[in-house]
Amino acid sequence: TETIEVGMLGFGTVGSGVITRLRQAASKIEQTQGLRLHLAAVAVHHLNAPRAVELPIGTRLTDSIQSVVSDPHIQIVIEVMGTLTTAEAAISTALQHGKSVITANKDLIATAGARLIALAKRQHCDLFYEASVAGGIPILRTLTDSYATDSVSQVVGIINGTANYILSVMTATGQSYQQALTAAQAAGYAESDPTNDVSGLDTSYKLMILSHFAFGQALTLSQIQPIGLTAITAIECQQAAQAGYHLKLLAEAQQQAGQLYCRVAPVAVPNQSALSRVNGVQNGVAVTSQAIGHSLYTGPGAGSTATANSVLNDVLVAAQHLGQPACGTAFNRNQAQLSVRSLSQ
Ligand code: HSE
Repeated sequence: TETIEVGMLGFGTVGSGVITRLRQAASKIEQTQGLRLHLAAVAVHHLNAPRAVELPIGTRLTDSIQSVVSDPHIQIVIEVMGTLTTAEAAISTALQHGKSVITANKDLIATAGARLIALAKRQHCDLFYEASVAGGIPILRTLTDSYATDSVSQVVGIINGTANYILSVMTATGQSYQQALTAAQAAGYAESDPTNDVSGLDTSYKLMILSHFAFGQALTLSQIQPIGLTAITAIECQQAAQAGYHLKLLAEAQQQAGQLYCRVAPVAVPNQSALSRVNGVQNGVAVTSQAIGHSLYTGPGAGSTATANSVLNDVLVAAQHLGQPACGTAFNRNQAQLSVRSLSQ
């Protein structure tokens, strides 16, 4: 059995889940892969903050990110602390030190992904971020591997659990937007500041990443111009339901004749559409492609264990690549050259 030394930045919801999943999966990983993933160090902001799970015996807790990303024994760094500037600096340093990096940071990958991917490629390190889009659904690897020879023409997703929960609750119970948001926060899906969840920003970040995997072209925020759901009332949700529709915050990107049309906005989805049945905190991504036609991938879009499972799978793939010359990011395809049009506004 080979031991792989892993460092982690952050010990919140996803970080706690990673520790749980590491413990649960250790013997399977050892039996099937001949690998032992050893969590050598965890960097946190406050050393004495209360934790949802206990740190494994032998894992070093530190408040120095630098001590983890530059530790010569650590081979893979997991970034689950969030933030933009600090996380980008930490990931860059880890890559510069030749470590592979796994992150769940959608905001960072959406806005600085190109820079980090280029750095990872130069360093021959893996940079994986399956958990950044639809947390528990392996949609990025599915698009990369299972659609490798196929041609995707459209992706439509419900990819923010908080927004979907709010709209589902307003439709089912007639509760107000504010009551539904409070319930979503209690369910533990909303970001600590839920502004991005309800403004469409979080959905847009995830669409920016999805689009790169589906079409070989990342989108920018200004190309999407999202509309959120803050102006939607329970009455509108219930009127839509009476007319045979469900209001959903959709992320859409469609390739047609050299153009990439995109939209993030609340949309009345007809009851016959499978996406209308993706309710509550569930996520769903519908993919249309030349060979397969229509497919729908649904599952938990967040949550500690489901998201951490995506992180751990990425760690395992990176561990299998260690020492091989041809490491890379999940983006190995050619860049597409499509002109982008927003249909949001
Ligand atoms: N706040 C996000 C959501 C968490 O509600 O979907 C997962 O990215």
